Amino acid sequence: MATKQVQTTEWTAQELKERLDKREKVFVLDVRNRDEFSAWKIEGREKLPMLNVPYFEILEQGGKDDVIESVVAYGKSRLARELPQDRPILAVCAKGGTAAQVVEGLRELGYDAINLAGGMRGWGDFYQVKPVIESPKLSIYQISRPARGDLSYVIASQREAAIVDPLRHIEHYLSFAQEKNLKIKFVLDTHGHADHISGGPALADRVGAPYYLHPYDAIHPIDVLPAKLSFEFLRDGQEFSVGTAQIKTIHIPGHTLGNVVYLVNEKYLLTGDSIFIESVARPDLGGRGEAWAPLHYRAFERLLKLSDSTVILPGHFSQPKEANAQGLFAATLGELKAQNEGLKMVQQGEQAFVQYILSSLPTFPPQYVDIKRVNAGLLVPDEEKASELELGKNICALAQAYA
Ligand SMILES: [Fe+2]
Ligand SMILES: [Fe+2]
Repeated sequence: MATKQVQTTEWTAQELKERLDKREKVFVLDVRNRDEFSAWKIEGREKLPMLNVPYFEILEQGGKDDVIESVVAYGKSRLARELPQDRPILAVCAKGGTAAQVVEGLRELGYDAINLAGGMRGWGDFYQVKPVIESPKLSIYQISRPARGDLSYVIASQREAAIVDPLRHIEHYLSFAQEKNLKIKFVLDTHGHADHISGGPALADRVGAPYYLHPYDAIHPIDVLPAKLSFEFLRDGQEFSVGTAQIKTIHIPGHTLGNVVYLVNEKYLLTGDSIFIESVARPDLGGRGEAWAPLHYRAFERLLKLSDSTVILPGHFSQPKEANAQGLFAATLGELKAQNEGLKMVQQGEQAFVQYILSSLPTFPPQYVDIKRVNAGLLVPDEEKASELELGKNICALAQAYA
């Protein structure tokens, strides 16, 4: 079948995110295969109207020699009643190429069709920065990878910075530090991640800063092999000074054995994978859910003793609608005690909590074993493999968060 190079109207991932945040109307036509679509799709703060029609079906059923003509034929016969005329149609594929052809055909039919540049790959690799607080004595920035629900942080004070849970594309942190004239003094991971590849070791190496990880997480929990990493040992109570800001480490085994959270100036708690906005982290990604669930309970018991005014800054979100009016994923501990399902269960005692946790575990993504190997330096993927391992959203929270 003949194909031709087409010039199409397109939105970058950033443009799409800005439009979604403004709740602009858009209809998504996702042309990936059905299994890819059901595993992972574009999400807005509100439910987006959406249709999945695999590209190969459009070509087969359009039945023309030319791709664009096939799209036009299929569009006339099958899509006319499904696609709205009153809003842009965002065509989405895996990498942006095939959706461009679909856009061309739909525009010939008069639709305001737009291609998502880079497709789901581009959407997955998009990062966004939002300030939590900005002042000379203390600034905290939430750096998110919205498509994956991953959150990382820059803590800055008097031109010094610590980066917490940096994600894989370290150029975002390097350019941000340069833009704000910050010297990266520490790179801190809350734990050995299972759902995404840490940017910690590479970032620390690039800027000549120490990379900190709790030593319990420097042993792969399933292989039981030591990490091949250069890192400094974290310990409970350890403090880091960044300018005039103080960061205190609290070791709370449960999600992993070396899991820590960071308390900044006794007010902001970077919770990594422990407390999220709607739910709490799962304890089974090291393959020892039953043994670790009681530890997890004690971890939350300890965190719940902090002041209710503590601002919780989590390591993930499950759905964009968890963001507050400023687009930040943040809430006070007092608010979360009242609304977070997992924290409400902690308040019912250990037995009820453990039972709840073990009956709420989502599926265990098989690639998470390999991602933990990558984060322990036991496996070194190329870019293609790294991207493939990180496809889709994180599944670090309990199932209720996805209901
Ligand atoms: Fe995790
Ligand atoms: Fe995670």
